[in-house]
Amino acid sequence: MSTRSVEVEITEDIESLSGKAAEFVVRCIVDHVRLEERVAVALSGGTTPQGVYERLGSENFRNRIPWSRVHLFWGDERCVPPDNPESNYLAAYKTLISRVPIPPENVHRIPGEKDPEKAAEDYERTLRDFFRSSSGEWPTFDLVLLGIGSDGHTASLFPGSLALQEKKRWVAASCIEKLKSYRLTLTLPVFNHTRQVVFLAAGKEKAAVLKGMQTMGSKPARFPFQLIRPEDGRMKFFLDKAAASLIGQKNGS
Ligand code: 6PG
Repeated sequence: MSTRSVEVEITEDIESLSGKAAEFVVRCIVDHVRLEERVAVALSGGTTPQGVYERLGSENFRNRIPWSRVHLFWGDERCVPPDNPESNYLAAYKTLISRVPIPPENVHRIPGEKDPEKAAEDYERTLRDFFRSSSGEWPTFDLVLLGIGSDGHTASLFPGSLALQEKKRWVAASCIEKLKSYRLTLTLPVFNHTRQVVFLAAGKEKAAVLKGMQTMGSKPARFPFQLIRPEDGRMKFFLDKAAASLIGQKNGS
């Protein structure tokens, strides 16, 4: 099977990117819960999604989502406690979770405070319990938000990371040399079983890795984010003009 669709929406700036992405998230959730009891959403860390979370938690958006039907997960987490400023959970809590009526039991954070390997095992168990999956199957997230680093990483799948080779486990703990720290991340097979992947990237520092966007799928992946190709799912990129500024330019130009 191959990715059903890859859409790219280029916006003027991060402000309009956040607004359009938030509208898209609402549409995805509302459309999904028409047919299904609940919707499984994996959030991204980093700064780019913060504007999206702030909008979803704002007066104009919060009442458009049936929060009791939404289950929040994370695509990755830093190995820190949930009250640490580095925590992806804390960032989403402040901008979104604390501002919407989502039942606490619907928020499934990655236990970054635990020993990394234990945290990975525990989170995989959390996912298996939720998706009621037996061994050998993969979970199917309905919506996954992902950022893209200036080195082409996504979630905590960094260039050269062993987690990129993981074919069995759902959650991997890896020591990221360049960050001198451990990270926890969902693995490529999990991301590639997602129904809808949304990439969010803004700023000129992302332009170089996005340059090869148009040949995604037809040429070998150079960056980890290009390995995200949901087998029977859809992908949408929300990029601001600065991040998209080199797309289509020939190599070397
Ligand atoms: C994290 C993210 C990471 C992030 C990229 C882009 O834990 O930091 O999951 O993958 O999305 O590094 O970060 P920015 O959006 O801040 O550029």
